[in-house]
Amino acid sequence: MEVAPLPLACDGRPQMSFGERAALEGVLAQVRPKLALEIGTAEGGSLRRIAAHSQEVHSVDLDHEPVLSQEPLPDHVTLHTGPSAELVPGLLAAFAAEGRNLDLALVDGDHSLEGAAGDLEALLRSPATRRTVILVHDSMNVEVRAGIESVGLNGYEKVVYHELDFVPGYIYAEGVAQGSVWGGLALVLTDVRRSPGYTDSTRQPLYQEPFASIHRTRADLLKARAREPESTD
Ligand SMILES: C[S@@+](CC[C@H](N)C(=O)[O-])C[C@H]1O[C@@H](n2cnc3c(N)ncnc32)[C@H](O)[C@@H]1O
Repeated sequence: MEVAPLPLACDGRPQMSFGERAALEGVLAQVRPKLALEIGTAEGGSLRRIAAHSQEVHSVDLDHEPVLSQEPLPDHVTLHTGPSAELVPGLLAAFAAEGRNLDLALVDGDHSLEGAAGDLEALLRSPATRRTVILVHDSMNVEVRAGIESVGLNGYEKVVYHELDFVPGYIYAEGVAQGSVWGGLALVLTDVRRSPGYTDSTRQPLYQEPFASIHRTRADLLKARAREPESTD
C-alpha cells in the first residue's frame, strides 16, 4: 500500500468505498482479532487489512485465483475454496470444538438474499460467535438487506446490538453498477448475554435509517431519467 496522505485511499484492490475501508480499519484497530473469518476474498483487498490487525484469519471464496495472482498473503491467512454454505458451518464447528471464539467476521460473499442470510445465520447459530463483531458488506443493496432482515436478529439472545446502516451505501453514478444501489456496512454485535440495559429490540434506535430514503432517491432518479427526451446525438 502506498503512503499518505491517506493510505487506505491508495489501495486499488478493496471492493469497498473509502468510508467503508475507514470503518473496517477502525473496527479492526479496536477489536484486534485473535481469530477472524472473511466470506468473500476476491482480490484480497479487505483480507489484507483484516490480516494486518489479526493473529489468524480464514477467508472463504468460490475461486481464489484472483488473490493468488497478487503478492503472497501472510502466513497467518488460510484460504478455503468452495461455497460458503458448505465450508463455513464446518469451519465454525471446528473453532467451537476447540473452544475458540471468533472475534470478527466479514460477510461479503454470495450477495443473493438466500446467500447473505445463510452466511449470517451460520455465524449466529454457531457457539464460536459468543462475542463477535460481524460486518455485512453491501447492506444497502435490496437483496442483501432483505437477507439480513430475514434472519430475525432480535430473535437471537446473543445479538446485543445491530445497526444496518453502520456505514450507508450508495447509488452508483457511473460504471457497470450505474443506477443501482450497493455498498454499506451492517454491524451486528454478539455477546454472552444481553445486558439488562438493552431493550427488547437491539436495533439502533437513534437514527432514521437512510436505506429507505436512498431507495426513494434512486426511484426518483430513474423516473426523471425516463422522462428525459432521448438525445439526438
Ligand atoms: C464483493 S467480492 C468480495 C470483496 C472483498 N471482500 C473485498 O472487499 O476486497 C465477493 C466475493 O464473493 C465470492 N462468492 C460469491 N458467492 C460465494 C459463495 N457462495 N461462497 C463463497 N464465496 C462466494 C465471489 O467469488 C467474490 O470473490
